[in-house]
Amino acid sequence: MNRKGALGKAAVGGATDLAETDRIVLTKKQRECVEYNPNQHLLVRGIAGSGKSTVLIERARHLVRLRTLGGTGPSVLVLAFSRPLSNYMTQLGQKTGTDSIDIRTFHSMAWSILNSMNLRPADVVSGRDRLDMIEQAVKDAGRNWSGHRLFAQPLSFWDEEIKWMKGKSILDFDTYSKTERLGRGTSVRVTAEDRRVIFDVFDRYRQSLKGKNLMDYDDFANVLIEHMDEIPDDLRWDHLLIDEAQDLHESQLCVCAGICNISLTIAADKAQNIYKTGFTWRSIGIDIRGRSKMLDNTHRSTREIVRLASSLQRHDPIALSKDEEFIPAALPTKSGPLPVLFTPGDPDSELNLISKLVRELRRNAPKHTIGVIARSHQRIREIDQCLRRVGIDPESVLRDEGNVLSPGVKLTTYHSAKGLEFDHVLVTGLSEGVLPDQEPPDSAEEDLKEWLAVERRLLYVAMTRAKTSLILIAPSPQSRFINEMDSALYEDGGRYAV
Ligand SMILES: Nc1ncnc2c1ncn2[C@@H]1O[C@H](COP(=O)(O)OP(=O)(O)O)[C@@H](O)[C@H]1O
Ligand SMILES: [Mg+2]
Repeated sequence: MNRKGALGKAAVGGATDLAETDRIVLTKKQRECVEYNPNQHLLVRGIAGSGKSTVLIERARHLVRLRTLGGTGPSVLVLAFSRPLSNYMTQLGQKTGTDSIDIRTFHSMAWSILNSMNLRPADVVSGRDRLDMIEQAVKDAGRNWSGHRLFAQPLSFWDEEIKWMKGKSILDFDTYSKTERLGRGTSVRVTAEDRRVIFDVFDRYRQSLKGKNLMDYDDFANVLIEHMDEIPDDLRWDHLLIDEAQDLHESQLCVCAGICNISLTIAADKAQNIYKTGFTWRSIGIDIRGRSKMLDNTHRSTREIVRLASSLQRHDPIALSKDEEFIPAALPTKSGPLPVLFTPGDPDSELNLISKLVRELRRNAPKHTIGVIARSHQRIREIDQCLRRVGIDPESVLRDEGNVLSPGVKLTTYHSAKGLEFDHVLVTGLSEGVLPDQEPPDSAEEDLKEWLAVERRLLYVAMTRAKTSLILIAPSPQSRFINEMDSALYEDGGRYAV
């Protein structure tokens, strides 16, 4: 144990050296995105922290201002991926201006259209209730296909397959039987006959939703696609600006393209694709040839953090294959402490370490934000309890909750951390079986590769949330991703035993 405390000098030094940014001035490249032809679609591609969200907000303001100049003018809406992200973007917007803009999630926008058109269901099922309904459909179908091997699959298989089908608007058997499943991820090998079985489950689930006048969240887009021609003008938008578009479903992007009168501005980074969406812009009918701009400088993280994250990212298939969507990060000039890796013996020692590190960071940087990122909600609860025992009052940044930019300790999952930023970040649970999760059984080789790529991207996303200092915690058995990183780029914090 380091005598200067668990964190050591390296990670705390620099924390206070970096000035807090208030108002920011956009770079030339960012400004070009903002002022790009308002009548044309634009794709803003950029690495983590390059200002994609910032640019979207500024372009939205720009488009609204054009309206004021012209007397009557367009309606403008920004779509954020989640509620915490929409809160963060609202706050982010305060660094560049004062005009307020309308920021919503896709679901909230879709719900208001469904509601206005009297298409809303009695209720929306999600979480456990939705899984229960899927489980029932699996049971019922199982009687028809007795002994079929697919029924040995875990519920997560059916859950993901149904999500994927709805996300691609595959609603009838004919389409399903013809759709290429490559890149589907976490899937078992599926034969032509298997598709009949899966579709039977899918159909039963849909019928039971319909019978109870229910929808799940993935239905919103498909119902709107079905009624696209009837959506009245006052429920459409002239300009839609979509953040983190790489993780929207194809069906959701189709709705956006369909209800948008003039221009779509899409911010995306395929290297941060953490849901198995797998679409091309062309498949959605959005022609962005010659209409794409690229931001390759981060304004968020220090060069030490970017270097380490890039050393992991080199293993992403889209980096290895030199995919045209891949953007290598330019090294920022902002410098800070080297990231630190701790390797506690087990999850309990990890909890103790987390509470020790967080206390130390709080003491040294009371005005800063500290993000603690974990794999599951269960683990977040454990960390929460552990921190409360030592007098720290963390805030969970999940779903609706959380003010990301106010000083303090924020707990979030790998998935919910997307798009956010913190001065200091603790990336926890870097163990085999946690990140990466347990390998899905009986998977085709291609699917396993895609699955692993998504797991790796979760880590890349988590690391690039850090502005000043980054701590990685890898309880044994240590995650294989640690070996993929260049060990010269982090400091070894040691095993840390209690
Ligand atoms: N031109 C700039 N100058 C200084 N800071 C900037 C600039 N552009 C963005 N930032 C800051 O960089 C951070 C990351 O911006 P964000 O828009 O969240 O990036 P992205 O959405 O690409 O991940 C934010 O703190 C933002 O205020
Ligand atoms: Mg963003």
